[in-house]
Amino acid sequence: MESLLRLEKICKTFPGVVANDHVDLEILPGEIHALLGENGAGKTTLMNCVYGVYRPDSGTIYWKGRPVEIHQARDAIALGIGMVHQHFMLVPPLTVAENIILGLPSPREPLLDLKSASRQIRELAQSYGLPIEPDVPVWQLPVGVQQRVEILKALYRQAELLILDEPTAVLTPGEVEELFKVLRAFKEKGLSIIFISHKLEEVMTISDRITVMRAGKVVDTLPASRTNPRELARMMVGREVFLHIEKPPCTPGEVVLELENVRAQSDRDLPALKGISLQVRAGEIVGIAGVDGNGQTELAEVIAGLRRVTEGRIRVLGKDITNCMPKDIIDLGVAFVPPDRQHMGLLLDFTVSENLIGKSFDRPPFSRYGFLQRRFIENFCDGAIRSCDIRTPHAQVPVKLLSGGNQQKVVLARELSLQPKLLVASQPTRGLDVGATEYIRRQMVEARSAGTAILLISTELDEVLSLSDRIAVIYEGEIMGIMSAAEADLQEIGLLMAGSRAHVATGTPQTA
Ligand SMILES: Nc1ncnc2c1ncn2[C@@H]1O[C@H](COP(=O)(O)OP(=O)(O)O)[C@@H](O)[C@H]1O
Ligand SMILES: [Mg+2]
Repeated sequence: MESLLRLEKICKTFPGVVANDHVDLEILPGEIHALLGENGAGKTTLMNCVYGVYRPDSGTIYWKGRPVEIHQARDAIALGIGMVHQHFMLVPPLTVAENIILGLPSPREPLLDLKSASRQIRELAQSYGLPIEPDVPVWQLPVGVQQRVEILKALYRQAELLILDEPTAVLTPGEVEELFKVLRAFKEKGLSIIFISHKLEEVMTISDRITVMRAGKVVDTLPASRTNPRELARMMVGREVFLHIEKPPCTPGEVVLELENVRAQSDRDLPALKGISLQVRAGEIVGIAGVDGNGQTELAEVIAGLRRVTEGRIRVLGKDITNCMPKDIIDLGVAFVPPDRQHMGLLLDFTVSENLIGKSFDRPPFSRYGFLQRRFIENFCDGAIRSCDIRTPHAQVPVKLLSGGNQQKVVLARELSLQPKLLVASQPTRGLDVGATEYIRRQMVEARSAGTAILLISTELDEVLSLSDRIAVIYEGEIMGIMSAAEADLQEIGLLMAGSRAHVATGTPQTA
């Protein structure tokens, strides 16, 4: 079959980085082709070369067999290439229809023919199963629907190839499912799709063929039917990746964290925690499983001293910390990985080094008699960068320039360097690629085996299952059940997560 798009030896460098290094890629008509790679592998850059955002330094782009020059997005669109960027490029105050026809000549120049455009858009949307209301301002739409507008914008321009850059990153699981349905419908109609992702499962589910990129190069292109997540992970990361972490047996020690009938209100002043009782011992990981928004945030916050406890007690190593100041709680040896590293975990404009010592700069050995101990700090940071595999040219780079995975490694390195008695980790691997995820999980297991008590709060059930020694399921601010991971039954956890407790309490089997 003749290819729709073919890239030959595409090279693109930025100062100090080879983003694309002699990349070959072939897209066939009517295929869903995944471009898989870790953050920084060069996927977006490559597609920006195809879409005319960048000019490649060298290499050739063939469209339907003919070499083409793409100088700007307009050229790509004229050929039939559409791209939905990771960050949408819609104009919020304009309506859906206005956004879609923006920049196109009107059939009734100089008059804008919004009415007929609206009608056409509605028809187009209908035929592709993408319901949309053309006359609503874009800012009023949820993210999933805005994405739909971007897709329609490309279809309206008669795209034959649709490039989607990490489209699922902003979607809920339900929305992902809907998007996949739409993509399959596109394929039925003969459209080709380039689907960019770093999520293995997703790529396996939706694509016909998969091209893996690593460090600017193509590793290989494979049919999805002839590969598996493990092989893909190895190709992405360049070494064997352990999707399942080996854990030495758990030898729990003294009770480090104890919550006794803890209650707290949400930001909207509704009951968020309704009498939580829970213990975490030294050397064990207790995982909190649950659907997002069932009190997880509030739970982490009451332990950190960031939210008022209205009833009940929280103790760390027997000391009552209920409603204590955050600083006093940290001083007891409690460390935190916050759910939102960009806003709470890091000072983005500060350097890697400043972030690494951020919590302890004012005490020995980092400072003495009020003076920062530069030499010590330098050695400490270089050591952390090396041992935690933080990919940065050096310690003086602003942390905002690091990839998400490397930012999270900075957070974890800082928190674990304090050798905490208790680590409260919220969504520690959210948004991270496979390599960084594996690294972070391994570090947590290591800390646990060295005696740290860990409370893991994660909405990713497989993370909770693979790391925890005990699992507690939270639902609407209540612990529905606690079980040892060895005895955990996936179906039972699923039921508890959905708020069903009856059959567990009575022990009677659930009838389907
Ligand atoms: N505009 C730019 N200026 C400088 N470096 C860039 C630019 N865009 C991307 N890079 C660098 O190029 C490499 C590839 O980035 P990118 O294509 O965004 O990767 P991916 O989309 O696979 O995460 C990274 O090292 C990134 O930091
Ligand atoms: Mg990208």
